[in-house]
Amino acid sequence: MLLIKNISLLQTPLGNTSRKGQAQGENRKYRDASVLIEGETIVEITERGCLPDCPADTQTLDAGGAFATPGWVDSHTHLVFGGWRQHEIPLKLNGADYLEILQSGGGILDTVRKTRELCEEELFQRAKGFLDEQLHLGVTTTEIKSGYGLDLENELKQLRVVRRLGHEHAMDVVPTCMSAHAVPPEYAGRTDDYVELICRSILPGVAAEDLARYCDVFCETGVFSVEQSRRVLETARSLGMCLKIHADEIDALGGAVLAGELGAVSAEHLIATDDCGIESLAKGGVTACLLPQTSLYLNKPFAHARKMIEFGVPVAVASDFNPGSCPSLNLQLSANLAYLRYRMTPEETLTALTLNAACAIGLGDRLGTVEVGKQADLTLWNADGMEMLCYRMGSNQVKAVVKKGKVVV
Ligand code: NIG
Ligand code: FE
Repeated sequence: MLLIKNISLLQTPLGNTSRKGQAQGENRKYRDASVLIEGETIVEITERGCLPDCPADTQTLDAGGAFATPGWVDSHTHLVFGGWRQHEIPLKLNGADYLEILQSGGGILDTVRKTRELCEEELFQRAKGFLDEQLHLGVTTTEIKSGYGLDLENELKQLRVVRRLGHEHAMDVVPTCMSAHAVPPEYAGRTDDYVELICRSILPGVAAEDLARYCDVFCETGVFSVEQSRRVLETARSLGMCLKIHADEIDALGGAVLAGELGAVSAEHLIATDDCGIESLAKGGVTACLLPQTSLYLNKPFAHARKMIEFGVPVAVASDFNPGSCPSLNLQLSANLAYLRYRMTPEETLTALTLNAACAIGLGDRLGTVEVGKQADLTLWNADGMEMLCYRMGSNQVKAVVKKGKVVV
């Protein structure tokens, strides 16, 4: 058994399902708390300085008055890739925009070239380093998308790396197939043919090896249209995958409306989404997965988080770690921006980074809160509460991380 004692404040949302509207801002706060863990599971939570009865051989972690939350969940990353793209910055500073760079064969396609060149072992070692970094930053679970392979062999290669990460790393990892991330060079100008390849070959190949729980599509001007996205997603659903959409990241093309119509689990980005899109998300029970660091990095507006909360859309906040639009793994910076730019309260932000994020990747019944019966994933912080975490910027405020009942950081 492990007893974490001397927690000045333990703050957590409650429940197994996503929280929306006013409930997004409701957190349970325990003062002078301790958490007792048996194996991988939380078995007791005490407050006001009381300690649980525990066997003599119980191991103790003295939190030293730290603030504690559920381990944070990064519900949107693209973290298996080759190379970096720092050479794009001067292009951007000289006025080239994200989609122009992609259309001229750079951007995502540059990373596709570099990812195809690496073998599974090389990709694994790089990605493992990123997971270690996330853990040190207080993240205990992460979603990972493919989408830098863009053919059967290379999409399988990326997703096999994700599976191996899940087996060998302390972190829980959720795999998403995003073969509809861009049109590969060998299909340039033939998007419908590439969609055909995805539906006939890539998705069935991925499903045959059970390599992805989710399917995601970049529904965007000049990439995949609403109708092409619908086709990919309906095929994925027929193969047993749940759905996500990169929707309205740059233009309001209708991705959010499609997400609502299809009952996708989540719609991502939503920078340009209008009221009609937000209503569709609310109606379809879709979680909005917002990525504020990408807005910052692409110099774009920030999604209308307040309006989404007001319309009853559950909001999750993630990093979007990738080599183009967000080369940052630090979810603490997403918390700062959720507070400052989305104007979410610290409580709403915590729910967005834990329970709603866990629900966006299908793990709400096991993760995302500190409650008896849930998996013992907790982050201890050098801060006195969520407000401090959202306010301090640029320093890693993690004190310790407990993953599946073990102290890992
Ligand atoms: O979420 N928009 C598409 N995908 C990523 C960027 C990937 C890249 O630029 O390599 C995103 O922003
Ligand atoms: Fe993304």
